[in-house]
Amino acid sequence: MMKIIRTKNYDEMSEKVAELIAKEIRENEHPVIGLATGSTPIGAYKKLIQWYEEGNLDFSDVTTVNLDEYKGLPRENEQSYWYFMHDNLFDHVNIRPDHVNLPDGMNDDPEAECARYDQVVASTGGVHIQLLGMGHNGHIAFNEPSDSFTRGTNCVALQQSTIDANKRFFESEADVPRYAYTMGIGTIMAAKKIVIAVNGRAKAETVKAAFTGPVTPRVPASILQFHPEVYVVLDEEAASLL
Ligand code: F6R
Repeated sequence: MMKIIRTKNYDEMSEKVAELIAKEIRENEHPVIGLATGSTPIGAYKKLIQWYEEGNLDFSDVTTVNLDEYKGLPRENEQSYWYFMHDNLFDHVNIRPDHVNLPDGMNDDPEAECARYDQVVASTGGVHIQLLGMGHNGHIAFNEPSDSFTRGTNCVALQQSTIDANKRFFESEADVPRYAYTMGIGTIMAAKKIVIAVNGRAKAETVKAAFTGPVTPRVPASILQFHPEVYVVLDEEAASLL
């Protein structure tokens, strides 16, 4: 079942996404929530923080698993996804620090880290809802367009375009991470529910290809058409070509 939810703008999209996540937090005794970084989910995280502050949402039994992390960046680096998640959500709610999970960017051994993270995700007993954003090229997490879908957590080389886009955040290009750890498509598809949020005109073509076109690893998000319960939450601009 794929449900396309059209909203007016970024705020409405964010509220809808936050509602879907809050529902899982309220309805499960030990909620397991999959989270994403990037600009798309920031508004939804603000809503969740607001509901927590108003006393309407409790994170004390919530476990989170994040999609990805740069390899080689320590947690305290402001560009790390660990830092992003604490800055934009975890530091503002009552989640237990030991319930927060991301790939460990400082683990030098990709094989060991990927196996460890797959085990972490499996040991939660299953993700109730996984939040995703989508790249302009249809990527989900760091799973870029390719000839095949990835299975478990894997270590990916960043594309030169990503390195170029990120170098402004670092002292020099040499400091930009070259690799990242990411959940695989198989890991993501194992979540019971998935919510993917997309906004902006620049992603409208890819939205059309991913959710109405053929399922292909050339557009990684298209695999979501085969998931049993996925919510595609779009603003007006992202939905404009549907
Ligand atoms: C984030 C992630 C990425 C982003 C995607 C969209 O953890 O894995 O796939 O979801 O690149 O990024 P934004 O939201 O910045 O457009």
